[in-house]
Amino acid sequence: MNTIKDHRNFMKSIFDSWKNVTASDQMQGIPAPPLQKSPKRPTKLIALPTDFETTYPLYPALTERRSVRQFSDAPMTLSELSFLLDTTCRIQKVIGDHIASFRPAPSGGARHPFETYLIINRIDGIQDGAYHYLPLSHELEPLETDLITPQMISDSVNGQKFAAASNVIFFFAIVPYRAEWRYGIKSHKVMLIDLGHMAQNLCLAAEAIGSGACPIASYDQDKADAFFGLDGENEFVSYIVPVGKKIAT
Ligand SMILES: Cc1cc2nc3c(=O)[nH]c(=O)nc-3n(C[C@H](O)[C@H](O)[C@H](O)COP(=O)(O)O)c2cc1C
Repeated sequence: MNTIKDHRNFMKSIFDSWKNVTASDQMQGIPAPPLQKSPKRPTKLIALPTDFETTYPLYPALTERRSVRQFSDAPMTLSELSFLLDTTCRIQKVIGDHIASFRPAPSGGARHPFETYLIINRIDGIQDGAYHYLPLSHELEPLETDLITPQMISDSVNGQKFAAASNVIFFFAIVPYRAEWRYGIKSHKVMLIDLGHMAQNLCLAAEAIGSGACPIASYDQDKADAFFGLDGENEFVSYIVPVGKKIAT
């Protein structure tokens, strides 16, 4: 695993094509490892205070977030969608000639090697369908695609039907050269870390508007790429996050 191509493949969902994939230890019935490492000095432990300030505005979103896989039929407003994009991947500042951009989530070298695609299901004031987000101008580009049915969405995430019931599905695609340009073979680990930061912002932003999100890494690479006409080499989906209004409790 030391060519750019191998590293790029590692960021895709193409496990079936890997050689020497064996059953995991869980599949072989081996007990799960401990959830934390035992302390070496158990008599010296320092209990942490729990009377900290819980009125920080971020506190509920940070601590109450859970992955949400059931969504209500309520539509999401265009303003709410705009909020999700603004707080997740909008470009706030550009440095130099494409050298760096600052966005709400951190990114190694401020390269942000991603494009954001959406499949919109139920957003007031905007037609259902596939869109590309333009982070510089904060605009949506409608994509010319064949009809994308709920069944096709479910198939693209290996049968996880809940995704199709959300209001909008974020497909984060990696554009590897954007980071390879600076860091070469060292860039791929960083891209995956970046991706996690961005998705977490989306999960927290969803909470803030009374919606829920569920990150998805189990998906069909070819089907997901095909929705947006991605070539699977220079640009490919790497993470999928459906977001939907929560069912009132
Ligand atoms: C990298 C990653 C991949 C995930 N993939 C899936 C997935 O394919 N399907 C799914 O239902 N949940 C998926 N999840 C959600 C996890 O199952 C969930 O985060 C975990 O059970 C903990 O629950 P919580 O998010 O409610 O705290 C994924 C989460 C992460 C971080």
